[in-house]
Amino acid sequence: MKRGPTGEKNEAVSAAAPERISVSGPPHESTAWVGVGLLERAAEYLRSPSGRFLLAAPPAARAAAAAVRRALGTAVLAEIAIDDAESAKTLASAERVADAALAAGTRRDDAFVAVGGGVVTDLVGFVAAILFRGVAWNAVPTTTAGMADAAIGGKTGVNHRLGKNLLGAFHPPGAILVDPRALATLPERDFRAGLVEAYKDAWIGDPALAARAGARLSDVLERDEGALLELLAGSVRVKAAVVLSDPKEGGRRRILNFGHTLGHALEAAGGFGALRHGEAVAWGIAAAVEISRRRAGLSASDADAVRRVLAGLGPFPEPERDPRRLREYLARDKKTTARGLASVLLDRIGSAIVDETVPLEEWLEAARIMSLS
Ligand SMILES: NC(=O)c1ccc[n+]([C@@H]2O[C@H](COP(=O)([O-])OP(=O)(O)OC[C@H]3O[C@@H](n4cnc5c(N)ncnc54)[C@H](O)[C@@H]3O)[C@@H](O)[C@H]2O)c1
Ligand SMILES: [Zn+2]
Repeated sequence: MKRGPTGEKNEAVSAAAPERISVSGPPHESTAWVGVGLLERAAEYLRSPSGRFLLAAPPAARAAAAAVRRALGTAVLAEIAIDDAESAKTLASAERVADAALAAGTRRDDAFVAVGGGVVTDLVGFVAAILFRGVAWNAVPTTTAGMADAAIGGKTGVNHRLGKNLLGAFHPPGAILVDPRALATLPERDFRAGLVEAYKDAWIGDPALAARAGARLSDVLERDEGALLELLAGSVRVKAAVVLSDPKEGGRRRILNFGHTLGHALEAAGGFGALRHGEAVAWGIAAAVEISRRRAGLSASDADAVRRVLAGLGPFPEPERDPRRLREYLARDKKTTARGLASVLLDRIGSAIVDETVPLEEWLEAARIMSLS
């Protein structure tokens, strides 16, 4: 029997009851709810100590925001329009959001609801972290990348002119609503790029999910609600389990960066915007699979299964392959420790390891030969 959001046993809702996934425990409890049609029932799941909400959303997520608005009714204290261009994820925008919240008479027991992609949840979550030294917030991701990644795990922040996400705070949302229907208007390219992260979670942590979601790739791409729900719930489960085991990103959490060692370098070397983040990660995974074959004992059939899904999610634009350019970006990877690059490899589907002995040259070679077809 499923339990309702307040913990009561409830036969009547059990068929449609969302899955409850704990992302962080006390004192900053964060719960993800995953289900179809959650937007309409947002009032049952979103949390605010005062019962009042500041609804923050960009124009692109207007359909999802309108559904949440209807669900919350008079509990909405104010609506705040967000510019969700990556270039607007700045301290200046954070100040504007805080200005709007203060002008609306926000108190420290009110809560934000951020409806949108990762730019929105990062920015609004960051404002929630610093306003009155921290107010509650909720995340309603409307992109596949947001559902699989950005809204889960408690990291919030904005960009600085010297680099992405340099200013930030750990401040988990009280509730995260993952409703595949929020993706209805998401452009195809963003939809597919974000799915790379969802499949990545399956590959690093859940072999059964990887097999099921791999077999259902065409349903997922057709946005079949059941197939999406299965993949997204599984992805949230994997990310939540990893985050719970390592909330502040000391060790284990690094496995979430599978595909990101080279992915970040490809993204930066090509100029941000040439490749979507998820697309760069797809190439990074292709390279990591090559290295995993040689160093971690990944089987040929597992490697093929990963490549087949990546090929189906694409085709993705060709990345920068110039070793001189990539070397520069790999060398400054912020995950590099004194020991060397923290390379995440697969020993089999569903199991990732961190290897700090892979020379940078080996990544450059993998980048030269990697293929997604
Ligand atoms: N906090 C974290 O742990 C974390 C993890 C990964 C990424 N991020 C951050 O997330 C951001 C990227 O997030 P993203 O990939 O979701 O991209 P995004 O927020 O830029 O959204 C992608 C595009 O989709 C549009 N959009 C969003 N929802 C839509 C909808 N339902 N219908 C139509 N259009 C919609 C947006 O306007 C935008 O053009 C980056 O800033 C990145 O740094 C944070
Ligand atoms: Zn990522």
